[in-house]
Amino acid sequence: MTASHRPLAAVILAAGQGTRMKSALPKVLHPVCGLPMLAWVVRAARAAGASRIVVVVGHGRERVEADLRARFGGEVEVAVQAEQRGTGHAVQCAMEPLAGFDGDVAILCGDVPLLEKEAIAALLVARAARPDSAVAFLTGVLDDPTGYGRIVRDAAGEVMAIREHKDASPEERAIKEWNAGVYAVDARFLRTALAELRTDNAQGELYLTDVVSAARKSGAPAQGLRWSAESVQGVNDRHQLAEVEAVMRRRIARDFGRSGVTVRDPSSLYAEADVVIEADATIEPNVVLRGRTRIGAGARIDVGCVLEDVEVAAGAVLKPYTVAQKSRIGEAAQVGPFSHLRPESDLGAESHVGNFVELKKTRLGRGSKANHLAYLGDGEVGENVNVGAGTIFCNYDGFQKHVTVLEDGCFIGSDSQLVAPVRIGKGAYVATGTTVTKDVPDDALAIGRTKQVNKEGYASRLRGKLRAAADEAKRAKAAADTGETPKR
Ligand code: UD1
Ligand code: MG
Repeated sequence: MTASHRPLAAVILAAGQGTRMKSALPKVLHPVCGLPMLAWVVRAARAAGASRIVVVVGHGRERVEADLRARFGGEVEVAVQAEQRGTGHAVQCAMEPLAGFDGDVAILCGDVPLLEKEAIAALLVARAARPDSAVAFLTGVLDDPTGYGRIVRDAAGEVMAIREHKDASPEERAIKEWNAGVYAVDARFLRTALAELRTDNAQGELYLTDVVSAARKSGAPAQGLRWSAESVQGVNDRHQLAEVEAVMRRRIARDFGRSGVTVRDPSSLYAEADVVIEADATIEPNVVLRGRTRIGAGARIDVGCVLEDVEVAAGAVLKPYTVAQKSRIGEAAQVGPFSHLRPESDLGAESHVGNFVELKKTRLGRGSKANHLAYLGDGEVGENVNVGAGTIFCNYDGFQKHVTVLEDGCFIGSDSQLVAPVRIGKGAYVATGTTVTKDVPDDALAIGRTKQVNKEGYASRLRGKLRAAADEAKRAKAAADTGETPKR
């Protein structure tokens, strides 16, 4: 239910071209914190209680429609505005699917992603408080509102009209209160007013703003509500997109801070729209959390970590500069610094992955460790396995990927190469520097390197020989150089 307990439909205008974005991607699909601008507006409409949501599409409509379908399915209806003949015409198109609808119609713009449900709720409350008024809309105040529609009020402060910049007199252009383009309108009144729109204006368009003067003429004057300029700022170019994203980032960080997450430096957290962080987690500076990343209670994400679609269980510690994609990190596991978990890595509880270790499609059982300089690709590693420094799973033969299996409790000595497909049995031991090409049975020792020989006193003899050889080389070079210098 909505703030006013009347049915609510939302109309979202998204047919414009967005020329100034200079982009092949339709403007409203440009992402803000990982979610297209338009999707933020749809979510705000939904959160405000809209039971119908109609998006007006035009430019790039196939892509816009496909994105809406994928995200919202049948929840969002689409109205096509084949030719952009103005904001009033766009709403006319949206009212076709809403033919039988009675209640309030919220009219929003697809390129105003910071608009919150509270703004829509405020309009509905204003409408409910004054049933004699057919329209409520948001305004802002700017020192220089060039380009925007100006709010023309009478001596009593009632709204008379919205005058578009191009149509405004010098006196009207001096007005600093501008139209944010966000409205709540009584559905029946809207239908009548839309039918009476004319194109007798500077742009030859059907202006939605003329609905406001129509309201006054019909004795149901519009209410202009001052609202925060930040929430209603539109996006026209990439710079404004970046500014809006900076605000959104701060909002997301603020919400985490309010829900029990320690965000050490909110201004440096980049967390996308659908990231979830549980209470008592700590996020250190300069962290990037993308996609469907979830951070469990009490986990710690240290400086510079970049996670995309990663599930971090409670109490896990990600040391600085851990980079991970589409992976799971178990309870109280420790990762980093400088670890790379590529897709389908699955770290068990209390496992450790250390510096300069790369995993790909590898499962590590509870308590297993790969602490230094290793590559584990296509691996199935059991519990309490120790993978020594510099170990490589040789998973690729140039044509196919093969699996390396390390059973529970085995120990892989440093600088070993495990040539997959290969299996190391339970509790087995692979000696340091071994190239394993055959399966190792449970409890066996695999050692594959030449036997060591110690030659007593050989080091000083060797040094003597090498020094003599170096001296000889130096002499030969000097002689050659003198020979080549011309005599005067
Ligand atoms: C509109 C308002 C102006 C307000 C400003 C706020 C009108 C006549 N003027 O101006 O008072 O200050 O917004 O940003 O409404 N759109 C369509 N179909 C169209 C035309 C526009 O879908 O035929 C969509 C655009 O994609 C955009 C929104 O409507 O999302 C606003 O259109 P825009 O051209 O930016 O309106 P302005 O003329 O800037
Ligand atoms: Mg505009």
